[in-house]
Amino acid sequence: MTGDLSPIDTAKFVAAKRAVDFVEDGMRVGLGTGSTAAWMVRCLGELVREDGLRVTGVPTSTRTAELARKVGIEVVSLDEAKWLDLTIDGADEVDPDLNLIKGGGGALLQEKIVATASDQMIVITDATKKVEALGAFPLPVEVVPFGWQTTKALVEETLSGLDVLGESATLRLNGQAPFVTDEGNYIVDLHLHRIANARQLSLVLNQIPGVVENGLFIDVCDIVIVGHGDGRVEVDDINSGTHEEDRIEFVETDNLFTNISE
Ligand code: A5P
Repeated sequence: MTGDLSPIDTAKFVAAKRAVDFVEDGMRVGLGTGSTAAWMVRCLGELVREDGLRVTGVPTSTRTAELARKVGIEVVSLDEAKWLDLTIDGADEVDPDLNLIKGGGGALLQEKIVATASDQMIVITDATKKVEALGAFPLPVEVVPFGWQTTKALVEETLSGLDVLGESATLRLNGQAPFVTDEGNYIVDLHLHRIANARQLSLVLNQIPGVVENGLFIDVCDIVIVGHGDGRVEVDDINSGTHEEDRIEFVETDNLFTNISE
């Protein structure tokens, strides 16, 4: 069924394919960033081109904007859209309450603004991202470049008073230079290993001068769709408390599977 796709890509693809079933004609949709979200943008573009689905997309990064335009989705800014019906995005970790760590791709700030401005957020992922407790994945924190070393030191000092297993922080690099976000900021990754109280940590981090936002998404995600390498998908809805299982059958087509840049 899945031809040349690796099991992990199949998992991401089927989660994305299931997620676009939630998009209705005329919706304003937040478009996430990352390799899983890129599958979703491709699938949505196919619905626009082949089925005439009318959607307006608000991308969460310049690279998603570029891909969305390429596949035929009308792109507008969040200020133009004002409020969104739905955001579909990937995640780096998802806990049983559907709280998330995001920002592995460096787009957490726009992702959080867009998801928060949506009636509903759907997270699409493969099974490796599901965890019992958040924190094995380094927590990205976006900081302004001015005084970033002082901000990083303050963050580390703050961590020593919190219930986390690790306290080290590293500046994210792009080669030898700092990684710079779409908003012109830096990212400090926190190696916490286990976060006992994600809500408290998120609040405390955002109090530190120089911190713009952190990658904890608490009470933002409504539905998580987990894809598997054999084409199965699991859909968990935190509001209705439902769990559904499904299988996505598909045929690979050149236009859908070539030149994925994420
Ligand atoms: C981008 O900043 C991130 O939040 C991504 O959504 C997250 O890192 C998941 O990316 P993948 O789908 O590439 O794993």
